[in-house]
Amino acid sequence: MNTEKEYWTNRYKEGHTGWDLGTISTPLKDYFDQIQSKEVAILIPGAGNGYEAAYLNDNGFTNVHILDISVVPLEQFAAANPSFPEEHIHEQDFFKHKNTYDLVIEQTFFCSFPPIKMNRVKYATKMASLLNDGGKLVGLWFDIPLTEDPDKRPFGGSKKEYRTYLAPFFEIKTFEAAHNSVIDRYGDELFGIFIKKKQPIKQQNNPLHGITLQSILEHLVANEGWEEMDKQVRINCFTENPTIKSSLRFLRKHLWAREKVEKMYLRSLNKN
Ligand SMILES: C[S@@+](CC[C@H](N)C(=O)[O-])C[C@H]1O[C@@H](n2cnc3c(N)ncnc32)[C@H](O)[C@@H]1O
Repeated sequence: MNTEKEYWTNRYKEGHTGWDLGTISTPLKDYFDQIQSKEVAILIPGAGNGYEAAYLNDNGFTNVHILDISVVPLEQFAAANPSFPEEHIHEQDFFKHKNTYDLVIEQTFFCSFPPIKMNRVKYATKMASLLNDGGKLVGLWFDIPLTEDPDKRPFGGSKKEYRTYLAPFFEIKTFEAAHNSVIDRYGDELFGIFIKKKQPIKQQNNPLHGITLQSILEHLVANEGWEEMDKQVRINCFTENPTIKSSLRFLRKHLWAREKVEKMYLRSLNKN
């Protein structure tokens, strides 16, 4: 079993689920209550027991999908919500999911990934790729400091940091301290509405548009690793003590190498 899948499955099996509110989070309930169209295509990744999806389903929303890497909460959800369409329940790694939606919901998901920069960039890139142009990423992000303890989830973050990751892909409509959090989280979370930026028509078929060389390298390191990158593009900066900084320096000067790296990035995206 993949280690993340195993980690989360064990937490559910051991009942070690301190994040689980046991009910829909109030800022999301209030947000859902003002949505007019019941047909809007919604994805809730890292849905866990899926209280938000249950609420939407009970309130007549017909195109809600939930996704989780662990089957345990999904089975619990399916048993508790027999009217929810089975084919809208995805047991899958978020980074491998392919569909697109009008709305993606964030709820205690970002904070569950080990807080390295690469994971955070990957999250923002993937969220954008799952949305139709003009689609929205809406939800709650913890506004708590990131501690040095690598095991201490939820992993925190700040408004400034989240903006850095999300701003290349999204217009920020709202991103403020939530005023209607559940008591335990009051003062500790930000409510955000991020609208996916539209690509100009001529750029729509260019998958590299708007992606910085740094994001490309971060994606490759996270998904392929330096060793594989070195196999595919033989340049010294991938072989000897490779770092993003030294690679950036080299690739900015050598267009031929940059083009090869961009092609490797596109191959990697197609694989995922
Ligand atoms: C902290 S829990 C939050 C669950 C739920 N959103 C909630 O608030 O109750 C994080 C969830 O994300 C899931 N998860 C973690 N990594 C994932 C991945 N790469 N793809 C899909 N789900 C993932 C875990 O299995 C877990 O259910």
